[in-house]
Amino acid sequence: MPGPARFAHLEAAVRPRGGQPHPFEALQAGAVLEPAGARHRAAQDQPVQGAAAAGFQIRLMVHGGIHGRGGAVASMPDPGSDSRPEALFTMDRLRQNRRMTGLLPHLALPILRALDPERAQRLVLAGVRAGLAGTNQERDDPRLTVRALGTIFSHPIGLAAGFDKDAVALAPLMRLGFAAIEAGTVTPRPQPGNPRPRLFRLEADAAVINRMGFNSGGIAGFAGRFNRAPRIAPLGANIGPNRNEPDPLSVFPALAQAVSARADWITLNVSSPNTPGLRDLQAPRSLAAILASIRREVPGVPPLLVKLSPDIGTDDLPDIVEACVECGAAGLIVGNTTLARPPGLRGRAAGETGGLSGRPLMQPSTELLARVARLARGRLVLVGSGGVASGADILAKLRAGASFVQIYTAFAYEGPALLARLRRELLAWLDAQGGGHLADAVAAWQEEHGEGPAETGRAA
Ligand SMILES: Cc1cc2nc3c(=O)[nH]c(=O)nc-3n(C[C@H](O)[C@H](O)[C@H](O)COP(=O)(O)O)c2cc1C
Repeated sequence: MPGPARFAHLEAAVRPRGGQPHPFEALQAGAVLEPAGARHRAAQDQPVQGAAAAGFQIRLMVHGGIHGRGGAVASMPDPGSDSRPEALFTMDRLRQNRRMTGLLPHLALPILRALDPERAQRLVLAGVRAGLAGTNQERDDPRLTVRALGTIFSHPIGLAAGFDKDAVALAPLMRLGFAAIEAGTVTPRPQPGNPRPRLFRLEADAAVINRMGFNSGGIAGFAGRFNRAPRIAPLGANIGPNRNEPDPLSVFPALAQAVSARADWITLNVSSPNTPGLRDLQAPRSLAAILASIRREVPGVPPLLVKLSPDIGTDDLPDIVEACVECGAAGLIVGNTTLARPPGLRGRAAGETGGLSGRPLMQPSTELLARVARLARGRLVLVGSGGVASGADILAKLRAGASFVQIYTAFAYEGPALLARLRRELLAWLDAQGGGHLADAVAAWQEEHGEGPAETGRAA
């Protein structure tokens, strides 16, 4: 068992919600603190526990590492900035979490609940980046390996695009235990995205609505970080045009070129609902033009995936799939967030404009995936994205024809603990089937139910 929390070189202040910061003397038994003394005001000596009981929020400025157990999520500055990271959490949570061994696995959920969602997302990403989320300690189980896109995934659970848009935390995200990471969407030039608020929790629905609008630091910085990422797990780059780009088709080759050195695949994002006109690029003719231009201008380009919208009309699907096959796409991600609002949403933010993700997306996106799989007939690698939050959800996507899945919303709610749970659930299901390899079990199920086999199978 690790010892009590040790905070190295910590500068701390207590601040009443919405008010000015106050200093404090001690955080909790075993914590090593160095109060900075900056921004002092009245109520100076108020011990933290009392302050927390009074509803104060704890704000920590972290200069050095944080070791052992305890609670903190660090917010790192923007890429390239050398200002100090900060951490923020509520004291009652800290007390509750004193016994935990990791930090973010347990804190992601309360923090996401307590804070403005975009700030919470930034904090979690920063915490991961700062190494606070820990490292996956579980050994890979060879029964879960997946061979797809010319590479091997240690299991079928990847991180979807949008979580690490600027490729600032690739190595720590890989170490959390994701089998693969997709960074981006990155645009050619930096852009701020839509005005805030632009990210909304629908907690009762285990869902999120976002209208981020491709906030991106731009390809120049992204490519530098992305191409230096260690080879711990397969890595994809998700690329898209700037807002109001007069000729959006034309930007894809240069973006693809910039990440080709490191990418195991490149995803063409033509399906975000938050960039006006973007989804028009899903028209077969546009897709064909984009794919052809990349393949012409970027020799040896990594496998290209096209990320589709779950809102695509079923009539349009056959031509889209054929265009992708004919123009050399390696596969499709099915799919992005939806503009639809399924009946029965309970979250107060359900009326917000933007793309819905999470649990309500599971069924429609899996139905679309199955339809795409029937059209693709094994000619494309399919990736399932939308609402995955359990081993059963993963199985449903694999049975529908996906080679692997990508997750965003469930990870945002549950944190890295989700990964261990999903793997456990998959392995429990395999055990219940009498063992064997996941790909074989899925293929047997598909055969029995008359579904086409996925293009990829178990890793040798
Ligand atoms: C806040 C947020 C930002 C996202 N940003 C992107 C993005 O930049 N590019 C992209 O292709 N998908 C983006 N997505 C979509 C996710 O990659 C994923 O496809 C979708 O959320 C469905 O998966 P989920 O239900 O597991 O969240 C974003 C999703 C969320 C919630």
